[in-house]
Amino acid sequence: MERTLSIIKPDAVAKNIIGQIYSRFEEAGFKIVASKMIHLDNYLAGGFYAVHKNRPFYGELIEFMTSGPVMVQVLEGENVVVRHREIMGTTNPKEADSGTIRADFAKSLDENAVHGSDSLENAAIEIEYFFGKDGVFPRTR
Ligand code: PPS
Repeated sequence: MERTLSIIKPDAVAKNIIGQIYSRFEEAGFKIVASKMIHLDNYLAGGFYAVHKNRPFYGELIEFMTSGPVMVQVLEGENVVVRHREIMGTTNPKEADSGTIRADFAKSLDENAVHGSDSLENAAIEIEYFFGKDGVFPRTR
């Protein structure tokens, strides 16, 4: 059983659609095995997006991700890393397939509602970044 890290970004939290996005996860058969709301500061957001430090959009990305609270959760399921990215839709919501979270709820490339780990390896790193080694419910059935 795989796990992945999901973030409901400040735009979606502000729109009061956490529940609707959680419903998408549940409809897909994912289990939510950890969750918390946090307001990222520059240090935490900068550490999370360190890999994008030299990208032209980095400043905007950090400003956006620190603009309000985010909801961070760990999702569990078979092949969940790939399946979660499928139901999120492409990074740019304008190109996302209809019925995906970003097509239905996101406004633009820089305010795109959700984040999902892009590989199993990064999922493990990102889960530990937010929840530590022991912060996730140990097992579900
Ligand atoms: S890449 O090339 O695949 O690594 O990059 P990508 O996944 O497309 O984007 C990485 C994260 O940066 C965000 N992003 C942007 N933010 C603001 N402005 C612009 N133009 C922009 N382009 C990409 C994108 O939403 C990704 O954030 P996460 O949280 O990983 O979804």
